Amino acid sequence: MSAEDKAEASSSASPPPSSYFIGKKDEIIEAGRVTKLVNNREVLVLHHDGVFHAMDMRCYHSGGILFYGDIEEFNGRLCIVCPWHKYKITLAEGEGLYQSVDPKEKPPKPRWRSKGVKQRIHRAIEVDDDIFVEFNDTPGPIESDVYQTESFRARARAKLEKPPVNTTKK
Ligand code: FES
Repeated sequence: MSAEDKAEASSSASPPPSSYFIGKKDEIIEAGRVTKLVNNREVLVLHHDGVFHAMDMRCYHSGGILFYGDIEEFNGRLCIVCPWHKYKITLAEGEGLYQSVDPKEKPPKPRWRSKGVKQRIHRAIEVDDDIFVEFNDTPGPIESDVYQTESFRARARAKLEKPPVNTTKK
């Protein structure tokens, strides 16, 4: 998949044979974002400023739920900000962005830098009134892969379902 293909949703006359139906375009626009199991992993599909984006739902850093992340622009690049530790991930490429200062620079000035691709970005495709996702099967691990397994999902569910510890003194 080329960088351009990965970047944003594209329109197509028919969905690629390997793509997954996500939902009706109008419903996703109204909801703003949805998650679906795609190729047995949780994928987040979101609509922002007229464009559909798709990515692994769990953040590459520690499995944060990107469904709740804000969309903001940093250094001219649109990012989702993970709600857990505020890591910034570009929507188009899945790059992790951070700011650093070069102490040799006088006066030191924070500059945006990239850690490279950390989050697996998929391709959202519009076909008439429907949205599909073509799974990005680029070989080699991408850090977000770690958190997309069924066992991780089961552990996360168990954590949510665990009854709260009773700390009331008797
Ligand atoms: S889990 Fe996303 S920033 Fe830590």
